[in-house]
Amino acid sequence: MMWLILVLVVVVPLLLLFAFNRYMSPNMDTFSKMNIDSPPASGFLGHFGQTFKRGLFLNQLEMYNRYKDKKVYGIYNLGKPILMVRDLDIVKDIMVKHFNSFVDRRVVFEFDPPFKENMLMLKGEHWKHVRSMVSPAFSSGRIKRMSRHVERISQRLVNVLRGKQERNEDIELKNTISHFTLDVIASTAVGLETNTLEDPDNIFANHALNCTVRLSSVYVLLAFMAPRLCNVLRKVGVTLISKKSLQFFADTVDAAMENRKEEGQAGKVNDFVDLLINAEREPGQTDKALTRSEIHGQALVFILGGYDTVATVLSFTLFLLANHPDCCQKLQKELDEKLGNESPNYDNVQSLTYMDMCINESMRMFPPGFLIDRVCTEDTVIQGIPIPKDMVVTTPAYAIHHDPDIWPEPNKFQPERFSPENKESRHPYAFMPFGNGPRNCIGMRLAMVELRVALAYVLKSLTPVTCEKTVYPVTLKKFQLTAEKGLWVKFNARK
Ligand code: HEM
Repeated sequence: MMWLILVLVVVVPLLLLFAFNRYMSPNMDTFSKMNIDSPPASGFLGHFGQTFKRGLFLNQLEMYNRYKDKKVYGIYNLGKPILMVRDLDIVKDIMVKHFNSFVDRRVVFEFDPPFKENMLMLKGEHWKHVRSMVSPAFSSGRIKRMSRHVERISQRLVNVLRGKQERNEDIELKNTISHFTLDVIASTAVGLETNTLEDPDNIFANHALNCTVRLSSVYVLLAFMAPRLCNVLRKVGVTLISKKSLQFFADTVDAAMENRKEEGQAGKVNDFVDLLINAEREPGQTDKALTRSEIHGQALVFILGGYDTVATVLSFTLFLLANHPDCCQKLQKELDEKLGNESPNYDNVQSLTYMDMCINESMRMFPPGFLIDRVCTEDTVIQGIPIPKDMVVTTPAYAIHHDPDIWPEPNKFQPERFSPENKESRHPYAFMPFGNGPRNCIGMRLAMVELRVALAYVLKSLTPVTCEKTVYPVTLKKFQLTAEKGLWVKFNARK
């Protein structure tokens, strides 16, 4: 009997731990074999434990700074070797010159339909086909049409902020701005008039927030560090994004397409919904078109990828301006001189050069895409470094954006870093808020128009200032690009 208890209590758990360890960490000598430096990693956890302790951002900085004199270094996440690239010429070679060997992104966990075939996760030829079908949605003409929604909703944002200013209320920027970007993406992606700014409890907003809450939870960290474990969880019904919410968005896209057809308006509005209708595969057609499932995947990634990112950048920019009144005044002077009494629009915001410098400096300090990865699909040698097929290669964008050798005093907000002369003197890959190369952010131009128009609307009539609740400098949450104590400000009316 004693033997049985001993076996059950000690031997079986030890064997299970050993098996788990072997399963999770079969490659822990990869980098020593490649002669690439890697920080000491304990047991099967690899560097997961350190990330968990210090948080994603501090940990990324610490590792990056530790290998100052190296072009690359390696880390292990629960046994998965990941090549981290410090050298900007190598980053460029991966993203552009050798793009054909690095087309894919790392898929950390499998999704079920209707999110399965989204552009972020598609691979190789499938990705190329979908990207080429969807790219026309972001042509200048279409973005200009979308910008009319942005202008209309920016005016609504100003009204909401002015109401709060008149009531002398403090404002947590990320919250209010997310309502604005949700309204923009609902109208530009699926032609829906949601008004989350005045009715934050509408069903579209609830489902979008439901998705992003999980997307920015510790589950994501788990997914990156232990994808196999997440796939097991998915099979027992624990998913990264709520299935109910995903189905809601797929139904919304279907309804938008069907309504357009029923109203006889298909092809006449020339917006994103029309693009989807035109791109859909007819029965019997095989090429040059998208299946309904591919359409759902793209619409979903636009909705989910397009609102939290823009909200993050817009709210950090306003917050940084509140904490740097000299920069805010300079920007408002530019607005007064260049726009005068004109309302901001797609065309006139393009001349606001100092505004772009402020937006860029905000994205340098707080880049929503803080890690950018690719997977090597065939053995490739880059600048003498052999990279084997299947290796994940990651660019630590947050750490590069905070490298003091490139950006002196990296924690200070200094828009002048983006003056034409200063830009000229830097490596072009030192700043990559939208990634780079053929697989960069497809929504980059739409995002910039949205940021410029909204900022111009707000700063023409209001000035953000600090309030009692303001906490600056910002401390980020451990696993999210979000201020731990919120982004609190007040607004003053401009004369
Ligand atoms: C300020 C706002 C935004 C930021 C900072 C941002 C950042 C990024 C980054 C860093 C990537 C990865 C690029 C790479 O791997 O090289 C990406 C990809 C992507 N973004 Fe954005 N994004 C923003 C807004 C948007 C918007 C508004 C949309 C859509 C409406 C969008 C849709 C996408 C899609 C579909 C991809 C995947 C592209 C592909 O794999 O071909 N993003 N974004």
